[in-house]
Amino acid sequence: MNSCDTNMVDEILKLKKEKNAVILAHNYQVGEVQDIADFVGDSLRLSQQAANTGAEVIVFCGVHFMAETAAILSPQKTVLLPDIHAGCPMADMVTADKLREFKAEHPGVPVVTYVNSSADVKAESDYCCTSANAVKVVEAIDADEIIFAPDQHLGHYVSTKTSKRIHLWNGFCPTHRRITAQEVSKQKEAHPGALVVVHPECLSETIALADAVASTEGILRYCNETDAGEFIIGTEVGILHRLQKENPGKKFYPAYERAVCPNMKRTTLEKVLFAMQDMEHVIKVPQDVAARAKLAIDRMLEIR
Ligand code: 13P
Ligand code: SF4
Repeated sequence: MNSCDTNMVDEILKLKKEKNAVILAHNYQVGEVQDIADFVGDSLRLSQQAANTGAEVIVFCGVHFMAETAAILSPQKTVLLPDIHAGCPMADMVTADKLREFKAEHPGVPVVTYVNSSADVKAESDYCCTSANAVKVVEAIDADEIIFAPDQHLGHYVSTKTSKRIHLWNGFCPTHRRITAQEVSKQKEAHPGALVVVHPECLSETIALADAVASTEGILRYCNETDAGEFIIGTEVGILHRLQKENPGKKFYPAYERAVCPNMKRTTLEKVLFAMQDMEHVIKVPQDVAARAKLAIDRMLEIR
């Protein structure tokens, strides 16, 4: 870290105290942002932290839907997104209007919506889920058919783990779609002793090559707890920072080194500092939308 970064970190830590703020960072954030965060985790863990924090200000180092979820769970807190343009293309692949049309084609079928979605879409849903609990949420619902939006790949993965009929939306993550079976095979050839661990947003052909499939936090847990010394990681490359930090004796290879989410990389130390100095960008969700979206999120959080 250069002296300019050290000054910025000092200033961020000072402002954090002054403003009674907590910094939450997703596992895909750049290393230096992860390193100043109070909590680093997957969408589920971060939404739980947002729901339970005693801080007055939540600085959300992630993408827009994550900050929105925090704002829904903590309406009395100020939620800041350091870069207002940090969105999620998958979340933009479904709108509330289009989801209503889809629901009309499948009357009475409960809707499970991946947390990677807007508040408006969550408000149209019965349950929310994350990649960590999608199978559990679908299994917990008393219905034989489920509408699953927006990620077709996570939805397909869930369908292989349940006997329920899943009606898939056709969204996808452009970053995970780049991690092809061909790229994984190349890495397997280069590192024959390594275990392959992938995120369920990956293509089904990629998932078929994996030893384990898990959310980002699940990937960390698996690699921390498994005795093997080498792992091929099929998700956004930002996760390698924590993997390597928590397991200095193990080796981690990205399944595809260009699997970089440009939106996750928009947040920098400088933007975190500016966000706290200027108290920008405040993420707010209209009360009626937030109330309906919260029902879907609370139903998810209640499923153990
Ligand atoms: P996790 O909830 O597994 O961290 O995933 C979030 C995400 O955006 C994956 O692309
Ligand atoms: Fe969205 Fe994919 Fe980026 Fe996750 S990695 S935030 S799903 S675009």
